[in-house]
Amino acid sequence: MAHAPLPLLRRGFGETMRRDAWWVQPVVVFTILASFVAYATWAAFQNAYYAHGPYLSPFYSPELFGSSPHAWLGPKPAAWPAWLPFSPALLILPFPALFRFTCYYYRGAYYKAFWADPPNCAVGEPRTGYRGERSFPLVLQNVHRYFLYVALVFLGILASDVWKAMWFATPGGGTEFGIGVGTLVLALNVVLLGCYTLGCHSLRHLVGGHLDEPSRRPARKAAYDCASCLNRWHMRWAWMSLFGVMFADLYVRLCAMGIWTDWRIV
Ligand code: FES
Repeated sequence: MAHAPLPLLRRGFGETMRRDAWWVQPVVVFTILASFVAYATWAAFQNAYYAHGPYLSPFYSPELFGSSPHAWLGPKPAAWPAWLPFSPALLILPFPALFRFTCYYYRGAYYKAFWADPPNCAVGEPRTGYRGERSFPLVLQNVHRYFLYVALVFLGILASDVWKAMWFATPGGGTEFGIGVGTLVLALNVVLLGCYTLGCHSLRHLVGGHLDEPSRRPARKAAYDCASCLNRWHMRWAWMSLFGVMFADLYVRLCAMGIWTDWRIV
């Protein structure tokens, strides 16, 4: 039986009936994500200029071991092998990084942008078989729900960093309450990360999505509705929080290097 040539029919790599500039989106995603990974890797290995006064870069928080006053457990352990690069960021960054890497939205974005699998919706992909995410290695993406728990802990820690960013050293050796532009930058970062994390698909399922009748559990229903509300913008929060966390690191870094001046508002 003859049938219309629907866009979803199997096609050769890059072939499509789409008339729009379908390649723009994956190119933009590739450029932004690759730039972010390059910047974050450089910043993580730098092991310097990550704290300024009461501010701590989110790339280095929590600072478990390190040379700044923010370190929880003091300086780098003496037993640290000389051949192993050390940076406080390298100890903790894999957790938020894997939370993003396994995010349902980002998966859809970087499968297209980095693997061209497919290059975009209804565009021919480079291979003929499709195994989805139900077999190794992509089945490992299911760990996302566990990285969610870690991300929630990180969110709490970053929120406590904002509180600490309100206490500035005084000449007498004490501290006083204040708000600087850096405080606002760190606070905005937490808001954006919060909107991204609390709208996570896994969290939405966890708080109420698995219930047959959420209406019979008002508190769960309210949490589900909040997560659903944030989830509607999940893609936007994903990008805005990515820029937010990078800018927060850049802000602290440039202030610590003496290139930018942190203005006190209060
Ligand atoms: Fe994107 Fe969980 S689905 S953060």
